[in-house]
Amino acid sequence: MIPNNTLFQPNDPAFLSDPYPVYAQLHQQSPIFYDEASDMWYFASHRDVDAILRDRRFGRSILHLLSREELDMPPENPAYEPFEKLGRHSMFDMEPPEHTRLRSLVHKAFTPRRIQAMQATIEAIANDLLDQLIPQGEMDVLADFAVPLSVTVISALLGIPDADRAQLRPWSNAIVKMYELGHTPQQAEAAIQASQEFADYLKDLARQRMADPQDDLITALAMIEEEGDRLTEDEMVSTCVLLLNAGHEATVNVIGNGLRTLFAHPDAFDQLKGDLALVDTAIEELMRFDTPLQLFKRWVLHDMEYQGIALKQGMRVGLLFGAANRDPHVFANPDALDLTRSPNPHISFGGGVHFCLGAPLARMELRSAYRALLGRCSTMQLQEEPRYHPTYVIRGLESLSVSI
Ligand code: HEM
Repeated sequence: MIPNNTLFQPNDPAFLSDPYPVYAQLHQQSPIFYDEASDMWYFASHRDVDAILRDRRFGRSILHLLSREELDMPPENPAYEPFEKLGRHSMFDMEPPEHTRLRSLVHKAFTPRRIQAMQATIEAIANDLLDQLIPQGEMDVLADFAVPLSVTVISALLGIPDADRAQLRPWSNAIVKMYELGHTPQQAEAAIQASQEFADYLKDLARQRMADPQDDLITALAMIEEEGDRLTEDEMVSTCVLLLNAGHEATVNVIGNGLRTLFAHPDAFDQLKGDLALVDTAIEELMRFDTPLQLFKRWVLHDMEYQGIALKQGMRVGLLFGAANRDPHVFANPDALDLTRSPNPHISFGGGVHFCLGAPLARMELRSAYRALLGRCSTMQLQEEPRYHPTYVIRGLESLSVSI
């Protein structure tokens, strides 16, 4: 282990376009390292990332234990309130016992049965999109297929009316920029405005559903009750925003990154096109091979020693999901694409109490997307080499133009 970081440079365009050679070096030289620029310890091994996600001495939030003042954070800027409020009432930014209460309430509406019932709808949405695209002879797989598919699926599940769906992607895009390492004042302003508009919109819709219940997730969320407890209006709004944002950003990128990976591995691509029964293991491998969410952070909730490092309450640590997914101690030939890899204990859906709530829906969506695309557009060709967005946490392509 070498303590000081020289390899991990998340602002370097070369690293952003292909972080995997650096991860291979980290595994060899320093899977745990300290980065002076961010004053954080980072963990690259699968064992540490998995262990920290499950260790309750680390948390997604610490404000239940320490004030902003004690954390040396500037006082909350009132202008950020619309954005901060979404986080305060979201399970994503809570720790037990508040997290347990909220996740369990949401689970009563977001049931396996409700998700399973989406199967035919998802297949129909994917096929309708391709019916329109195939006659055109070309498409941008992201803008024309992956985005409308995943926005339509999560909107249909929640019960967002068709006419309002176009607004969701810009709101979501603006908000998730705040999760990147550093953002500009303009990005913050856009995220605040989007948070306010999105929350106002959902509040109105939830009130309409309370007055006139429908068979959709918003109605179910508004109606759930567990031992006399129910979601407050703020919790309803934050949960819907979380489901809408988390529910499509990563899914879109697994379609884009995954197809790009297949184009770069023509033998594997042919193998999959020749045997669509491989799609389940292929999806897991594509999510491992080019991880859509590269970094999650955790607060150190209590002073402790972890792997010989003294961690103080209030520090933050970085978990390198993309590196953990290429750990040679867990994955044989980690830099090789093997669409039949099984078991495949990749960490792309996280672990511990915050494990992705939407994983079954995401898997169902990805299965339908890949089956439809590969089954109906098997001669698809890349039109130009795709480029990645210059962001680190959310790893995805700007576009993916293909001829069909
Ligand atoms: C391939 C697509 C997806 C990936 C890779 C993904 C990944 C993740 C990861 C890594 C986390 C945990 C973050 C952490 O521990 O800090 C998470 C949490 C979450 N995801 Fe997903 N996700 C995907 C799709 C979805 C979908 C489709 C939905 C919902 C419709 C969803 C809803 C959520 C929610 C609500 C949480 C928060 C859970 C909690 O805090 O308890 N995700 N996701």
